[in-house]
Amino acid sequence: MGQKNQLTHLEHLGLLDAAARAGSASSGGSRAALWGDELATLEARARAYLDINCGHCHNRQGPADTSGLALDAAETSPIALGVCKSPVAAGRGTGNKKFDLVHGRPDESIMVYRLAAHDPGEMMPELGRSLVHREGLELIRRWIAEWPGAPGCAQEASNSARQSASSARLSRSQG
Ligand code: HEC
Repeated sequence: MGQKNQLTHLEHLGLLDAAARAGSASSGGSRAALWGDELATLEARARAYLDINCGHCHNRQGPADTSGLALDAAETSPIALGVCKSPVAAGRGTGNKKFDLVHGRPDESIMVYRLAAHDPGEMMPELGRSLVHREGLELIRRWIAEWPGAPGCAQEASNSARQSASSARLSRSQG
């Protein structure tokens, strides 16, 4: 027992093949980009990384929905993705930064700050890690840094972001 490569063993039993087919596009399932795949676009890789590592909490029905930040692959609203969105809780966990994601400016983005944080009260994901995932952090930094268009968040954007984030919360709690 234990002498055989477990992956080879499962493959021989036909289990891995079946699992791979079940998730393939040809069987109707959709596939996220591999976050480490250098051939996929930066956007696709960053969104896949956020979906996998954050989206199970940060989605419109998830345990982090009160934050108004939705990072699952289905999300299309820039504000829900954190762009120029003020955090719900001020102070700790923000690194004194104003917005979750400041396009073009990773160092001003709370998302990057919390990915790099070590303090359990600040770091994201909030559970299950004791190390910073360097490659993931670099990927998200680059995604934000190379955002197309003019960098930075205007003050008006912050106000409308706050409004639409709270109306998004409202419509969720009503629905
Ligand atoms: C285990 C659930 C969970 C996971 C996984 C998780 N978060 Fe969170 N996140 C929360 C909760 C709950 C809050 C609200 C409380 C707080 O700010 O700490 C939050 C808040 C945040 C905020 C502040 C949002 C705001 O507008 O107030 C950011 C930014 C954030 N998370 C980023 C991330 C990123 C990036 C990931 C993935 C690398 C991630 N989180 C993974 C639960 C989670």
